[in-house]
Amino acid sequence: MKAFNVFIVILALVCLHATGTKLVSTTKEEYLKELNELRRDVAKKYRIPNMYKLFWNDTLAEEGLLAKYNGLWETRRQTYRDSDTLEEVRDLDSDLAEDNRTALVEEYNEKKEMHELEVLTPGQQEIGCIEWYKAPYFTYCFLEPDGTGNSWNTSQGEPGSACAQGFVNDDGLCSPVIEPTPTAHPTGTKFLRTTKKEYIKDLNKLRRDAAKKYKIPNMYELFWDNALAEASLLSNFSGIWKTKRRIWQDSDPFKEVRNLDSDLAMENRATLINAFVGGGFMSEAEVLIPGQQRIGCIPWDKKFDYNGFSVFYFTYCFLEPEGTGNSWNMTQGEPGSVCASGFENNDGLCSPARPTTPSPEPTTPKPKIPQPKIVGPKPTAPPKASRFESDSDSKPAQDSDLPTDGASCGQIGMTLILVFSMIF
Ligand SMILES: *[C@@H]1O[C@H](CO)[C@@H](O)[C@H](O)[C@H]1NC(C)=O
Ligand SMILES: *[C@@H]1O[C@H](CO)[C@@H](O)[C@H](O)[C@H]1NC(C)=O
Ligand SMILES: *[C@@H]1O[C@H](CO)[C@@H](O)[C@H](O)[C@H]1NC(C)=O
Ligand SMILES: *[C@@H]1O[C@H](CO)[C@@H](O)[C@H](O)[C@H]1NC(C)=O
Ligand SMILES: *[C@@H]1O[C@H](CO)[C@@H](O)[C@H](O)[C@H]1NC(C)=O
Repeated sequence: MKAFNVFIVILALVCLHATGTKLVSTTKEEYLKELNELRRDVAKKYRIPNMYKLFWNDTLAEEGLLAKYNGLWETRRQTYRDSDTLEEVRDLDSDLAEDNRTALVEEYNEKKEMHELEVLTPGQQEIGCIEWYKAPYFTYCFLEPDGTGNSWNTSQGEPGSACAQGFVNDDGLCSPVIEPTPTAHPTGTKFLRTTKKEYIKDLNKLRRDAAKKYKIPNMYELFWDNALAEASLLSNFSGIWKTKRRIWQDSDPFKEVRNLDSDLAMENRATLINAFVGGGFMSEAEVLIPGQQRIGCIPWDKKFDYNGFSVFYFTYCFLEPEGTGNSWNMTQGEPGSVCASGFENNDGLCSPARPTTPSPEPTTPKPKIPQPKIVGPKPTAPPKASRFESDSDSKPAQDSDLPTDGASCGQIGMTLILVFSMIF
């Protein structure tokens, strides 16, 4: 068992540079948690006394999307993260040697990307990131308030022993005495400002309300799908208009483009279904396509020109399994009354049926095997499709180069932990 522990320690040190999970494959909460674990480990290994706990800041994420660089290099820094495969650009042992700290701060002041060091800058307290593809990176973040790297100019000491007033030592990290309240849930550019869970809940409420108002009997509950979010990030158009659609959402200010009362009137359904053919973007009607079951979104800044006016969207999503609007071809009826087999009426939406008999409890105690965290599938081959012509005015201007395949440090680590825990 001792050998196992030593092995884990070695593994932890090897992985100090990275988190195993990409933002697009996880939740903000999990992502932040991993970052703080990384910061704590680094504070302990290099005896950094002034490493602060990071908190999520939606405003920073939104300003990343809108390319607003307020205070950059003064009170803010930027970084690209989550390379696939994992890249190690810096050598922490050398960078963080006390003799080299002056040189390190000077390098920070050259206003360039310090790669893995950026999220480890001790003085940072807030972070906001968005999914952004710039090969080989998948994530773009702003961090505040240390724009200059000055917080590295501190002699080594007990982790958490040099915290500013109002902060306490929280197992090696400086944490605020009263933790900031979680950000509220305002409307407008919603995906960026909320959690995936809340976002899906809002969308399903919208679908349920529409099903009830327009007597749609075959409206399915939507579920979040990390693989679809990643496909939208990589512009993987495989299956588009056949088993997949893409949409823009969350206009700010909110702008009503479709007239649902008229669109969904039975005498207009044939026209509506026709308008969905070939991938015309149907605005608010898209997320209400009854047959859709899965959705994955990323932050995206897009101006869409309609006849005579423009709308600014902030979210880009892929939906499956419907590539058309054919599920609108359905007579009106009790919401949730026309669900495919394996689905049941869940207050007006078709939801996967719950097993009717509770599964029997296993009589033998389960062996304690650490569960590897599930991460989204990695891209395996270059997507052939490039961004569509009409996307040329949209941001982020994503890089079209492709990451090579490879397991991340975290994934290898998890696998090894699993293997070793079974041996010992
Ligand atoms: C988030 O960051 C912005 C921009 O720096 C700042 O104005 C705001 O106070 C921060 N919000 C919180 C809750 O700290
Ligand atoms: C300091 O940096 C130099 C150049 O990067 C490196 O050669 C040296 O090993 C570093 N010092 C320590 C103590 O790691
Ligand atoms: C580090 O801090 C000391 C004083 O605390 C200062 O004299 C020195 O210039 C700082 N070094 C750098 C590289 O900022
Ligand atoms: C609706 O479905 C019927 C048969 O199920 C088909 O004949 C008809 O063409 C469909 N209408 C549209 C507009 O797709
Ligand atoms: C694109 O998506 C399809 C499934 O939708 C998947 O089979 C394929 O591997 C993906 N391609 C890339 C490059 O990720």
